[in-house]
Order: sequence, then structure tokens, then C-alpha cells
Amino acid sequence: MSETTQSRAIMRVLDGEAVWPPPIWVMRQAGRYLPEYRATRAEAGGFLDMCYNPDFAVEVTLQPIRRYGFDAAIMFSDILVVPHALGQNVWFAEGEGPRLDPVTTLEDLSKLNQRDPAEHLAPVFETLRRLRRELPAQTTLLGFCGAPWTVASYMIAGKSTPDQAPARIAAYRDPAFMAALIDMLVETSIDYLTAQVDAGADAIQLFESFGAALSAPLLEPLSLTPMRRIVTGLKARRPQARVIVFLRGGGPNLAKLIEADFADAVALDWSLDLDRVLPMLPATLPSQGNLDPLALVAGGEALEQGVDAILAATRGRPHIFNLGHGIVPQTPVEHVAQMIARVRAADN
Ligand code: CP3
Repeated sequence: MSETTQSRAIMRVLDGEAVWPPPIWVMRQAGRYLPEYRATRAEAGGFLDMCYNPDFAVEVTLQPIRRYGFDAAIMFSDILVVPHALGQNVWFAEGEGPRLDPVTTLEDLSKLNQRDPAEHLAPVFETLRRLRRELPAQTTLLGFCGAPWTVASYMIAGKSTPDQAPARIAAYRDPAFMAALIDMLVETSIDYLTAQVDAGADAIQLFESFGAALSAPLLEPLSLTPMRRIVTGLKARRPQARVIVFLRGGGPNLAKLIEADFADAVALDWSLDLDRVLPMLPATLPSQGNLDPLALVAGGEALEQGVDAILAATRGRPHIFNLGHGIVPQTPVEHVAQMIARVRAADN
């Protein structure tokens, strides 16, 4: 048995240990590239129904663990259950991605928060409790939520947008509205993540998927400060919690995240050159990433070289092997097995 399948390798990395070979999981590991996911999805009906049904959510969370033995399981849910819990209409139109009734004014916000988020999200906590019982002890259980800016972008636009223009315009035009929305998300996220930890999550990942859309003046108030408030708020209540921060498209913003110094680990997107970026990180700050998901689709030499380059760059530092963004539906299942085998066969 390789060292990585022993004793909670991911938690050891999150505490600063350079575990070798590095432990591995992949973002969106429960998803449409898996035939067993597609079968469960067809049976479950709607995507949100699946998120709120612990029988289905536990099953699809475990599918990639059974097939590949990843070192972490990430609970099956979505970042958009939070606006849903706040009372916003959220639905997933087949083949179109998420849809929400947009909120754009302080008056819209005052109509939210009519539901009890903890009650609405109770199935998520039940899913976590069951997962912790069913998972092997060495497998880390990850909870997550979207960072406030990313979630706010969806709440304002009502859908996926290429450059988050509606939310950026709102931030410039109506800072009071934006600050109130971000505040609401910070408070709700602290409660949500505290309950996730209480239900069995070992560590949390914050998804700032739209980190590339923030200009210098917006980065601090809309992304870094809210994420810092979530991490410190969670840790004030649950000091054992560990938080991985994924600032996608960080580029130059990544340096500011590192200076801000509140993340227990930073997830690096696939656009980053590790040979350039890792020297910027404190040697003890755990990193995660960052294979291009499309190199995993291609397989062959691109995959082998991509894996080897990450192994070479991260050798000797605390690192969790992962993709640099979510796995895509057209990924051949055998390429995932090849990636894991290559990581686990890393030379001593
Ligand atoms: O990682 C996992 O396996 C856990 C589950 C998870 C999902 N979404 C399931 C999902 C996680 C962690 C997310 C996070 C999420 N959701 C993000 C942040 C991460 C990122 O990719 O940047 C974002 C932006 C969303 C919002 C979202 N959910 C979109 C834009 C879409 C549609 C596009 C798509 O990939 O289908 C979803 C739907 C969604 N969330 C699916 C899954 C498995 C596909 C739904 C289906 O089965 O049809």
C-alpha cells in the first residue's frame, strides 16, 4: 500500500507535512464523466433534488471513491444551495446550467432570508453524517461553499456569465447593495460551514471561481475580506477546521491572497506555472492543483508530462495533487485511473 493511502494523508498535508507521493482528489470528481453518476442522475430526476436527497447524494459522493480510491471525498451538493436556502428561486434547466430569479436591489435582498437556512440545508448535514460513517477512516471528507463574490455573481445575473459583468456593474454602481449582499453571504456561510464541520467535514474548500473578474479596487472588499471573515469566523467556533481557498484565475491576485495569509492551503488553477508560483508561497503553506482538465481529456503524453511536471515542482513541499479546475464531462474514465497510478508511482 502506498503511503498516501495511509492515515489521513490530506489532513497531514493541510497541517504542513510534505507527504510523498502526494495525496490526490479531483474537483467535480462526482459528475457526468462517470457512467454510474449518469445512471443515478437519470433515476434521481432533477439536479437539486439529488443535492437534497441524502440517499442519492451519499451514493454519488462515494462513486469516485469506490472506483478510484481518491484520498478525499467531496460532499455532493452545489454552491447555489446557499442562495436557495436564503429564499431565492434557483433551478437547473436541462443542458443550460443554473438559473436564478435575479436580485439587484436592497429591496430584493430584504425579501430574502425568509427561510431558515439551517432547516433548508438539513439534508446536506445528513449527507455528511452518513458519509463520515461510510467512508474509510483515512479518506478526508471535504465540505465546501462558494465564496461570497462568486455566489453573489450568480445571484445578481441569475445565470452563468462569461465575465460577471452584471455583478461588476452592481459593485461599482451600488456599493451599499453589494456590501449588504456580501454580508448576508458571509454570515450564512459561517453558519453553514460550522454545521458542515459538526456533521463530519474534516476540511472545507472555498470556491472563488470568478476570482479573475475582480479589478484591483474590488478584490479586497468583495473577495479577500469576505473570505477572511468566513475563515476566521469558522475557526473562532471550530478551531480544528482547515480551509482550502481556490481563487480561480487568481494570476496577480494570488499574490494578494498569499499576503492576506488566512488560507490553510491554496488551490492553484491550471493557468499557473508552478515553477514561478511555488517559490512565492511560504514553504510550509500547503498547495493544491493544478493539472489542466483538458490534458486529462487528451491523455497520452500530454497527461504523463503534465503529471510529471507537477510532481517535480511540488516534491518536498506540502501538496495535494488535483486538477486546476473541475473535471469535464468528456473525460475518459481510464485517463483518471492512469493519472492516479502515475501520481502514486512517484519515485521516492
Ligand atoms: O466536486 C464535486 O464532485 C462536488 C460537487 C460540486 C458540484 N458543483 C456538483 C455539480 C461542487 C463542489 C460544485 C461547485 C460549483 N457549482 C461551482 C464552483 C466550482 C467551479 O467549477 O468553478 C460552481 C461555479 C457551480 C455552479 C454550477 N453548478 C454550474 C455552473 C453548473 C452547470 C455546469 C455544469 O458543470 O454542469 C452546476 C451543475 C453541477 N454541479 C453539476 C454537478 C455534478 C452537473 C449537474 C448535472 O448532473 O447535470
